[in-house]
Amino acid sequence: MEKDYIILGIETSCDETAAAIVKNGKEILANVVSSQIKKHAQFGGVVPEIASRQHTEQITYVLEEAFRQANCTWDDIDAIAVTEGPGLIGALLVGISAAKALAFAKKKPLINVHHIAGHIYANRLIEEFEFPLLALIVSGGHTELIIMRDHGEYERIGETLDDAAGEAFDKVARTLELPYPGGPHIDRLSEKAEASIDFPRAWLDEESFDFSFSGLKSAVINYVHNEKQRGNEIDKAQVAASFQASVVDVLTEKTYRAAKRYDVKQVIVAGGVAANNGLRKRITEKFKNTDIPVYFPPLELCTDNAAMIAAAGSILYEKGRFAAWDLNGKAALPLT
Ligand code: KG4
Ligand code: ZN
Repeated sequence: MEKDYIILGIETSCDETAAAIVKNGKEILANVVSSQIKKHAQFGGVVPEIASRQHTEQITYVLEEAFRQANCTWDDIDAIAVTEGPGLIGALLVGISAAKALAFAKKKPLINVHHIAGHIYANRLIEEFEFPLLALIVSGGHTELIIMRDHGEYERIGETLDDAAGEAFDKVARTLELPYPGGPHIDRLSEKAEASIDFPRAWLDEESFDFSFSGLKSAVINYVHNEKQRGNEIDKAQVAASFQASVVDVLTEKTYRAAKRYDVKQVIVAGGVAANNGLRKRITEKFKNTDIPVYFPPLELCTDNAAMIAAAGSILYEKGRFAAWDLNGKAALPLT
């Protein structure tokens, strides 16, 4: 595109109410996230009804703050991009209703964005894409390997057959009586111990780029129960480190194999679990002696935010792909 353009992004698919303003798909002018984690932590997970109410309470403040940070007015905004799905339906609807109302009132085009496309495009806020690229998506709801041959084109070559990586982190953390969300706690504890317990690694079929984490999760839960029954003290750091090593091993090896097989020019890692220190180190190390660069978003862009939604929406804006007024939230929505 020759002319500069500015997109307002809105994200409310789970437990973060977020608005962001992004120029030309790459430059963040504002990125505001209101996290509800504290409201859900006491229940050990996200409570959908509470999430919807919190989004309703926060959305106007978050939008106002985004305009304030970006020092923008509505005249500067070219289009509004909003997460269509997948996610919690009541939560999605808050963002979509806000986006529709604003687009209608301010006469701006509306753009519907897939949440996972958003996670992928968080990387374009730091580094321009080169195709073909391989994206490893590891979030609370998704674990997928995706090949992109052009902007907005996604071919899924592997996915989890059961739990998502983040889900496994959260469930194991719960077993270890760590607060929700457990991923960051497991990550921190892992630095304090050796991965000395031999938990399983689900390689599946040798050629397969699919994942499975439910067997590992059960193995950890069984280990903890057995040790407790024997009256042994659980070394949480040792369990965390051993569990994390198992997840990181499989994610790293399969990503490496896929990058070689598809002869990609770049590897990008996306989603909340991309914040994991162990994973960042292992993947970086694995690709060190190859000519394939690996990128991770900065930590604040790994977890849910609206800058990534505006970045993914920018590609659709450039292609002139806009949403109709009957846009609705979708709890399940395929990327490919
Ligand atoms: O992408 P995200 O913010 O939300 C979804 O779209 O699901 O990902 C949230 C997930 C949670 O399961 C959380 O435990 C995990 O990302 N997570 C981590 C870390 N930080 C967040 N998992 C492992 N290590 C981390 N440092
Ligand atoms: Zn997400």
